[in-house]
Amino acid sequence: SEHGCLSVIVLGASGDLAKKKTFPALFHLFAQGFLQSGEVHIFGYARSNLSDDGLRERIRGYLKGASEEHLSEFLQHIKYVSGSYDSGEGFEKLNKEVSEYEMSNKSESSRRLFYLALPPSVYPSVCKMIRTYCMNPSGWTRVIVEKPFGKDLDSAEELSAQLGELFDENQLYRIDHYLGKELVQNLLVLRFANRLFLPLWNRDNIDNIQIVFREDFGTDGRGGYFDQYGIIRDIIQNHLLQVFCLVAMEKPVSLKPEHIRDEKVKVLQSVNPIKHDEVVLGQYEGYKDDPTVPDDSNTPTFASVVLRVHNERWEGVPFILKAGKALSSRKAEVRVQFKDVPGDIFRCKKQGRNEFVIRLQPSEAMYMKLTVKKPGLEMATEQSELDLSYGMRYQNVKIPEAYERLILDTIRGDQQHFVRRDELKAAWQIFTPLLHDIDAGRLKAIPYQPGSRGPKEADELSSRVGYVQTHGYIWIPPT
Ligand code: BG6
Repeated sequence: SEHGCLSVIVLGASGDLAKKKTFPALFHLFAQGFLQSGEVHIFGYARSNLSDDGLRERIRGYLKGASEEHLSEFLQHIKYVSGSYDSGEGFEKLNKEVSEYEMSNKSESSRRLFYLALPPSVYPSVCKMIRTYCMNPSGWTRVIVEKPFGKDLDSAEELSAQLGELFDENQLYRIDHYLGKELVQNLLVLRFANRLFLPLWNRDNIDNIQIVFREDFGTDGRGGYFDQYGIIRDIIQNHLLQVFCLVAMEKPVSLKPEHIRDEKVKVLQSVNPIKHDEVVLGQYEGYKDDPTVPDDSNTPTFASVVLRVHNERWEGVPFILKAGKALSSRKAEVRVQFKDVPGDIFRCKKQGRNEFVIRLQPSEAMYMKLTVKKPGLEMATEQSELDLSYGMRYQNVKIPEAYERLILDTIRGDQQHFVRRDELKAAWQIFTPLLHDIDAGRLKAIPYQPGSRGPKEADELSSRVGYVQTHGYIWIPPT
């Protein structure tokens, strides 16, 4: 039900994710009135020995963007319970606290949302504890889990099976925070609500599509975690692949979450195995200076892979998924490049391709590269942009944080922006053979300079499969 008192239980409350993302998102929801004062209570759970005030002090500095009054009110709703992740004792205590709050609230039903801000190794035991000690007797119980969900197909399937024995699929919310980003959510609207794009969005008109993620910092103290996963598991197999699904999938029957997720699964199942000569891996110089990273690590901090979709719409169109850490800039974008104009009387061929770019971050924007007449007396062409920058167009609109939206969706019971079990499986199926080859050292990461564009081999790969770098001006010389 939509009503009744709400308990949000953040497991791993003293960790990084909770501090930086979960509590701030809850705070913003609270400050905007989505979590009502008399209706919500937040419980932090972790192993550290902390008091309620101790937890409040820890997270206070991360809660920004609302008044001091809101802040102290919010903090009053937070309680801390300490306990381990695999003993009944702690979870019994947690259940007691939550039940006491529910009784004191006197509403007829109650809602319990568990947020696992924890390393995945403890998911099975924590979920078992929740199932055994903490199920809500009078309303729903939902569980949010964070990626990584497994390391490859088998481990992901094993995790899914373990959690599947404890919870129904409609109680499990596998978060991929990219699905909470404004411009990612916009993809569906752009594609299916605009007549302009409908007839063009296919192999007849589109030459190639790039989905790119760049970060201008390295693994910054997360080397120990990162080295076990690498950039493909950290970014590409989840965040970029979700964006890929929305760009490439067929039109869903309706906006119902199941209809949308059905289409995502289908397009994932249409992806061919990735070929070794369509992969470039990189590792930035200095990555191994992190003491928690082994000296002989071959873990990629950069990767570019080409996905080939075997269906009527996309056969022959390369999707280049590229992600890297410690690069020259921070940016995430989708770049749709159209084919050359046939019978090009302006001779702008190759330099003047149309592109439609959706910039997810920073500074959300979408723009279309068009060839126009260069203003002036000469008949010359140049590339210009039809530009929709959110900062300009929506000056007074605050774009919500991804986590804010996704937590609210969970409370509302909307699974559209969460990863379904079969979707997860299909995603792992695409990358597992490649990941096993990398893990076994059959593919090597090329060193690159921190602060660069990554290995030049990646740009070469993009051009080889069809991407054409466009240039600013095109001057048509008189014949
Ligand atoms: C996380 C990755 O999932 O996403 C991080 O583990 C990465 O390595 C982060 O930095 C990027 O998220 P955003 O929202 O800043 O693009």
